[in-house]
Amino acid sequence: MVKKAVIPAAGYGTRFLPATKSSPKEMIPIIDTPVIQYVVEEAVASGITDILMIIGKGKRAIEEHFDRSPVLEETLAQKENFEMLEKIRAISEMANIHFVWQKEMNGLGDAILHARCHVGNEPFVILLGDTLVQSEDGPVTKQLIDVYNQQKGPVIALEEVKPELVSRYGVVDGESISDNVVKANDWIEKPSVEEAPSNLAVASRYLFTPEIFDYLEKTLPGKNNEIQLTDAMREMVKNHPMYGMKFKGKRYDIGNKLGFLKTNIEFGLKDPEIGAELKSWLKDFAGEL
Ligand code: G1P
Repeated sequence: MVKKAVIPAAGYGTRFLPATKSSPKEMIPIIDTPVIQYVVEEAVASGITDILMIIGKGKRAIEEHFDRSPVLEETLAQKENFEMLEKIRAISEMANIHFVWQKEMNGLGDAILHARCHVGNEPFVILLGDTLVQSEDGPVTKQLIDVYNQQKGPVIALEEVKPELVSRYGVVDGESISDNVVKANDWIEKPSVEEAPSNLAVASRYLFTPEIFDYLEKTLPGKNNEIQLTDAMREMVKNHPMYGMKFKGKRYDIGNKLGFLKTNIEFGLKDPEIGAELKSWLKDFAGEL
């Protein structure tokens, strides 16, 4: 049973400055809900009950968001806005959420190493806090857990990307063992098009067994002088079978301006309150372009 999740949310969000100067990038809203709430909802819908968030300087708003808010709740109750009261209360009751502070920015690998005590000797998932995945086939985290239950080894979500985009991602070198599962031989962080062994990119969701911590502990700074999770994966795969899973669904990267706008428009079109009006406005507006 996979019950624990880790959400690293310590990064600066430099692609989204100045908005992220004093607000965490994970709190950027899609319509009226911060990205990180969708991420927590995905974990909970996949059967996760314990979530550890790795946060850093300037990230207190994330803690506040998942805490009870007695004054707000009282005000909503007085105004008899019970629907919103219910919604607000539910946020703090979704899961057991814990926080640990990464005091220096040393990369994703170092952030994950901070989860060692919390994870203990259990398999766990990692969800990157600035990416959403929507799927008709169940949450992507649940898809990873299903593959883990068959293969009994670490599973990493993969997405086919255009060859010219491989340099933005970790990339797998592996062989297909079924329709959607690849057995990994190696992992390469942000390769050039020429170096890339495939166009299957590591896509923001991971399921690991606790051995990953032994490898992270020994990992030296790599790309950008940061401790890279991919470098630990590359050592781990030499001794442990690891898998990639081409997930079913669509990934939304919110940490950049264009991704943020596109996601808001797509989610807005599906929103029962504003969808129809947004659609008709968009059509008129597009006609004027
Ligand atoms: C990180 C990982 C990379 C992965 C990407 C998206 O990179 O290092 O391997 O492909 O997330 O999941 P970042 O986007 O933090 O540069």
